[in-house]
Amino acid sequence: MAQQADITAMRRAVELAARGLGSTSPNPVVGCVITDASGHPVGEGWHQRAGGPHAEVHALREAGVLARGGTAYVTLEPCNHTGRTGPCAQALTEAGISRVVYAVGDPNPQATGGADTLRAAGVEVASGVLADEAEAVNIAWLTSVRHGRPFVRWKYAATLDGRIAAADGTSRWITSAESRADVHRLRAEADAVVVGSGTARADDPHLAVRGMDEAVQPLRVVVDTEATAVKPGARILDDAAPTLIAVAEEAETALPDVVRLPRAERGLSVPALLEALHARGVRSVLLEGGPTLAGAFVAAGAVDQVVGYLAPVLLGAGPAALADAGISTITEALRLDITDISNIGSDIRITATLKGA
Ligand SMILES: NC(=O)c1ccc[n+]([C@@H]2O[C@H](COP(=O)([O-])OP(=O)(O)OC[C@H]3O[C@@H](n4cnc5c(N)ncnc54)[C@H](OP(=O)(O)O)[C@@H]3O)[C@@H](O)[C@H]2O)c1
Repeated sequence: MAQQADITAMRRAVELAARGLGSTSPNPVVGCVITDASGHPVGEGWHQRAGGPHAEVHALREAGVLARGGTAYVTLEPCNHTGRTGPCAQALTEAGISRVVYAVGDPNPQATGGADTLRAAGVEVASGVLADEAEAVNIAWLTSVRHGRPFVRWKYAATLDGRIAAADGTSRWITSAESRADVHRLRAEADAVVVGSGTARADDPHLAVRGMDEAVQPLRVVVDTEATAVKPGARILDDAAPTLIAVAEEAETALPDVVRLPRAERGLSVPALLEALHARGVRSVLLEGGPTLAGAFVAAGAVDQVVGYLAPVLLGAGPAALADAGISTITEALRLDITDISNIGSDIRITATLKGA
């Protein structure tokens, strides 16, 4: 059983880790708290951007000599390799830390082994404290390392009767201004925002983050098989954020930023799209619809988390949130676990993951 002091310090480390969401890719988010030999917090840090110091290094700098004989709480097993920065296991040992508590083991084959290095240097090591919380904050990076593809969060905004647009295709706005602002936070956390050609045609979406000065803009992606939906002058082609149009291998287009992908039975191959994004350093995708493309992602087993904004609005006609996902009978229904329900403005936001994921 973890001691209360360990839990308190690790909870703070998880809060710190969350500050890096959206700006550390392709690295994980990591938070670190250092307490001195008598258990008082003397240093804090989080990994702020790829190529910058790791969380442990920030916290050690703040702690200075007070780290000697103290404990380091880290949300992810300290790394053991020299990348753009030196190994954290060694930095902790050199600073005289006598105990390291981490939440989640590092699944990255290049970086793992930090715990063994620390133990070999005589440092006491414990793991698993607040592992669920630390796993949740880092789920995008952990998923991308474990599955070799980006983490996919599918977001939609629907009426209480489950419609994402009216019968004439209009959908602005179903949800409250607060929910729409919350979506900008999700965009800021993602490395890429993806929509289908149907949404590009219907909405001419912009897809950049607005209202968050510090945000790193995501890559805006339209899956446009025939290269006919995104036309010169489309809002997505402005310079607010980078843009990539996914098209078929033989599609004719004069647009500069395209990736050519193999076709699937319908449209483009979803696994090939995710592979191409992963190769560009994308570790997390916010899939913003529409229902047809979302159905293809679900059918491909490529949705890790669902975030639904439900507005107290009725339409009675119009497309449902999710189109055909290859499920034809109730025994094949995808069952989800709800991980959060929040009130956002006048709406409810439900977050869910695949059962057992
Ligand atoms: N409320 C919300 O949350 C929300 C969010 C987004 C959109 N919307 C609404 O949804 C409507 C548009 O949705 P939609 O379902 O018509 O379009 P969509 O899902 O945005 O795009 C569908 C199109 O994507 C292309 N595509 C490429 N690869 C695909 C694949 N593997 N599987 C399936 N499609 C693939 C196909 O066209 P090509 O192959 O020809 O390129 C397909 O027709 C609009 O009314 C919009 O306002 C609402």
